[in-house]
Amino acid sequence: MFDDARALVGSAPPPISIDEFRSRQSRLFSQIGSDEIVILCSSPETIHSNDVHHPYRSQSDMIYLTGWYEPESVMFAECIDGVWKVTLFVQPKDTLKEIWEGRRPGVEGALKDWAVDFAYPIGDLRSRLGDAISRCSKVHHQTGIRNEIDSIVTDAIQLRGRARQMNGSGPVGIEDPSAKIAELRLRKSPAEIEQMRHASIVSSIAHEAAMRSSMSGRTENQIQAIIEGFFVFAGTSGWAYPSIVGCGENATILHYKENNSPCGDDEIILIDAGSEFRGYASDITRSWPINGKFTDAQKELYQLVLDSQEAAIAECKVGNPFNAPHEAARRVLAEGLIKLGVITQNLEESLDNENGQLKNWYMHNTSHWIGLDVHDVGIYKPNGEPRLFESGMCLTVEPGLYFGSWRPDVDCPERYSNIGIRIEDDVLITESGPDVLTSSCPKTIAEIESIVGKSF
Ligand code: GLY
Ligand code: MN
Ligand code: MN
Repeated sequence: MFDDARALVGSAPPPISIDEFRSRQSRLFSQIGSDEIVILCSSPETIHSNDVHHPYRSQSDMIYLTGWYEPESVMFAECIDGVWKVTLFVQPKDTLKEIWEGRRPGVEGALKDWAVDFAYPIGDLRSRLGDAISRCSKVHHQTGIRNEIDSIVTDAIQLRGRARQMNGSGPVGIEDPSAKIAELRLRKSPAEIEQMRHASIVSSIAHEAAMRSSMSGRTENQIQAIIEGFFVFAGTSGWAYPSIVGCGENATILHYKENNSPCGDDEIILIDAGSEFRGYASDITRSWPINGKFTDAQKELYQLVLDSQEAAIAECKVGNPFNAPHEAARRVLAEGLIKLGVITQNLEESLDNENGQLKNWYMHNTSHWIGLDVHDVGIYKPNGEPRLFESGMCLTVEPGLYFGSWRPDVDCPERYSNIGIRIEDDVLITESGPDVLTSSCPKTIAEIESIVGKSF
C-alpha cells in the first residue's frame, strides 16, 4: 500500500562512520585534562507493565560518542601514556537471554564494530571503574541518569578520599560533561545532516501520504496510523516524539494527545509528527482541511501563518541571533491579525510579552534546536545573549495560530472559531542561506488543495 510513497524517499545514506565517532571523541577529550576520566551511561530501561518494557531508546550523548544503542552499558575514557582510550561495558552475550530478548553484540561485537579500544562485561564495571577513579583527579560524569553508576562513582571517590589522607594525593572532583558535548552536538557534521535529511524526507512523504488519505469521515487515529505506519514502512525506527493529530477544536490544543476523534467535514486537521532515523529526529507540522478545500476564513489564517513562517525561515542566516526567526514570525502574525481585525492594539503594543494581544493566539516559541533529540541540546543564550547562527546548526521554524472557542480566557472571533494552524519545517543553517530539510512536504494552499484525498 505504501510502495509508491516509499519510492519517493530514495535510498538511505551510509551510517555514521567509525572515523567520525573517533573524531567526536577526540574533540571532547581535547577539552579534558589527561589525568581526568569521562563516564557516560545508557538510559535505564522503563517498564510499561510487569515484564513488558517501553521501547528502548538510549541516552543521546552516549549515542553521539559511541553509536552504541544497547541498554545496560557504560562508556568510560581515560588517557593512558598520552593516548585517550575508550572502554565500553556491555551486556555480555548470553544464549538463553538472547533466545528470549533478542541478539546482543556483546563484548566481541563492541570490539569488532564500534569505535572503542576495550570492552568488558557490565558486571566488571565496579572494579574497573573504581581502579580508574583511584588514579584520576576529576570524573566527568552526569549524575542522575543511573543511580547505580552514581553510587559506583561516589563510593570510589570516598575510597580515594581515605587514600588521600594517607598519601596526600590530589582531590577528585565530579563535573557534568554534558555542556561540552552539547556544544559539539549543536554543529552537525555532513554525515549527521544526511541522516537528518533522510528522516526529514521520510516524514515529509508520510505527511503527504496522510494528506492524500484524508477525506470526510476519517478519524484522527486513522490519519495517525498512515503517518506512523509509513515511518516504519520506510525503515526508520518510528516516531521521534509522540504524534499530535488533532482536528477542529483539538488542533487548538498545543500538545493534544488523545488522537481519537472523528474529523468534522469542514475542519482543519493539525498533525505534528516526525520520524527518527539512526537516532536523528525530524519534526514536521502540517495543517490541512480534511475535505481538501480551505474555507475563506481558514485560508486567511493559513496564508498568514505561512507568510510568517517564510519570513522566519529567511532569518535563518549565519550571524543572525537565534531569536531573529521568532521576532520575524511574530511581527508578520501581528500585522496580519491587525489587518483581519482580530488584534485591536497597534503593532508595538500587540507584540508586548506582558500585555500584547498576539500571545492570545500565538503563545509558543518559533524554534528549537533539532538533532539526536527533537528538542536538541545547545544553550540558546550563552552568557545571557542569544546565540548567533553558525553553519551546521539545525532548528525548527514552527509558527502557528490557535483560535480555541472553548477557552474561557479570551473572546475567540466567531469567524475563526476552533481553527488551529501550525506549519513546521526543519532548517539547516548554511553559508549560502537556509536549507529546508523538510522542503519536500507540501505546504502551499494550492499544493494542499491539489493532493488531499488523491492517491499517489
Ligand atoms: N513536536 C514538538 C515540537 O514541535 O516541538
Ligand atoms: Mn513538532
Ligand atoms: Mn518542533
